[in-house]
This record gives sequence, structure tokens and C-alpha cells, in this order.
Amino acid sequence: MRTLTRRIARYLSNTMLALAACAAAEIAFADTIAVIGTGRVASALGPGFAEQGHTIIYGSRDPSRAEVQALVEQTRGPASAAPQAEAAARADMVVIAVPGNVALDVVRSLGNLSGKIILDPTNIVMGGDDGAPTHAVETSNAELIQAAAPGARVVKAFNTLNYMTMIDPASSGGPVTIPVVGDDADAKAKVVALAEGMGFEVIDLGPLRYADTLEEMLVIWVNARNLGTPFDYHLRRRPAQ
Ligand SMILES: NC(=O)c1ccc[n+]([C@@H]2O[C@H](COP(=O)([O-])OP(=O)(O)OC[C@H]3O[C@@H](n4cnc5c(N)ncnc54)[C@H](OP(=O)(O)O)[C@@H]3O)[C@@H](O)[C@H]2O)c1
Repeated sequence: MRTLTRRIARYLSNTMLALAACAAAEIAFADTIAVIGTGRVASALGPGFAEQGHTIIYGSRDPSRAEVQALVEQTRGPASAAPQAEAAARADMVVIAVPGNVALDVVRSLGNLSGKIILDPTNIVMGGDDGAPTHAVETSNAELIQAAAPGARVVKAFNTLNYMTMIDPASSGGPVTIPVVGDDADAKAKVVALAEGMGFEVIDLGPLRYADTLEEMLVIWVNARNLGTPFDYHLRRRPAQ
């Protein structure tokens, strides 16, 4: 009888420990995400991440603006708006949802981002001599951002699809792949989870030095759209061998 009582006590104790671990894991996973910018991509990713249980702080040059407050209202879950640097300071992950040609200056203005994940969906495109769009930096925005914030963990993702597809992946008419690159495995895993949580397939294409390839993928995407053949990226996985 005493053995049975001890067994039950041990079972209950282990169950309590397991439940406590699950609760701790959930708290750790429910990150605070600063979405810098309040435009099209911010309005797609902020609500998309909030629906997965994360707390969203929009970083705006004017957080009191009516459109910014409307975005906060339409974000299901804990959401608020703050000046850009304040939003970044309070977050575990910082999404740089600003025009590509100001992204670097914006990152520099955000203060110390050491230890944080930076999610970079930006593209930097200019008109080429032939009138067609061209990637406007020699390396990539993501690598320039990493150099400007060396203690942060930069992940490039969400730059190869339109914001409307981010809001409604089904509108693409089939599966959509989000390619992801970055040097930090843990940071990349968190971004992969966010993209999968929004309904996308994800393919890890390697370290951050391949970010220029992802940015060029967007240039090709724009060219095709301009030529009348819009597409979405879907990289079909081969069956396991
Ligand atoms: N549009 C797309 O479908 C799409 C898809 C994938 C990736 N991207 C990339 O994602 C980034 C954001 O694109 P978007 O279409 O969301 O742009 P957007 O609609 O123009 O919004 C950008 C936001 O950035 C903030 N901002 C603008 N100028 C700024 C400046 N000089 N300094 C600081 N903040 C500034 C503004 O927020 P506040 O006024 O509140 O400060 C603005 O709402 C771009 O790099 C773009 O290439 C776009």
C-alpha cells in the first residue's frame, strides 16, 4: 500500500514538473516582437504573428497616428505602438518592415540590438540602365544590417512574396515557399516557425551570405510580374530517398 502511495506521489510530482516545463516553454516561445514600420508588410506580419500568440509592438515614427492605432486595434492579441527605438528595446525579435533604402539607417537608429533576432524582409531595388529593376547593393541589405548590428542574429525571410499573399496564402492558388537564410540556427528556427504558422512552406537555403540570392529572387519576381507573368515561389521537395 505504501509502495503504491509512493508511486502515485512520484507520478504526480513528475506530471507537475512536466506541466511546469511546458508552461515555461510556452512563455519562452511567446516572444515580444517589434514590427518596425506600419505599412503593408507590417500590416501583414504583425497580425500574422499575433495570431500565433506573440505580443506585437509596432514601431512608428508617429505611434499616435490614427492609421497606426487602427493597425493596433485590428491585431488580435496583445498589441501596442511606440516610437521605433522604444519598440525595439522592449522586444526579443525586431522586424525591419521599412523601405529597403532606409533600412540600414533605421537599424542604426534603434540602439543596441545585441542578442535580439532581426527579421529582415526588405528589398532594395533600383531601375537599371535598361529600365528593368536591379538589386541596388553589392552584397545584401541583410548583410549590411548584420554588420550594423553585429551582436544581433539576422534572418532574411518574407522578402520574396507580396504582402497580400502574406495575409492570405490561399490566394496564391497553391503552396508558397518562403526561403530563409541566417547564421544562427535558433533564430532561423523561430522565423521558420512563424512562417509555417502563417501557412507557408519554408526552405532553409543556408547562411546569411546567401541573402543576396534571396534579394535577387525578388528582382526576378518583379521582372516576371512586369512582363505579365506573375508567379509565387514554390520549391517542391523531393521524396525522401
Ligand atoms: N509590399 C510588399 O508586398 C513587400 C513584400 C515583401 C517585402 N517587402 C519589403 O518590405 C519592406 C516594407 O515594405 P512595405 O511595402 O510595407 O512598405 P510601406 O508600405 O511603404 O511601409 C513602410 C513603413 O516604414 C516606415 N517608414 C517609412 N519611411 C521611413 C523612414 N524614412 N524612416 C523610418 N521609417 C520609415 C513607415 O511607418 P511609420 O510611418 O509608422 O513610421 C511605413 O509605414 C520594404 O523593404 C519592401 O521592399 C515589401
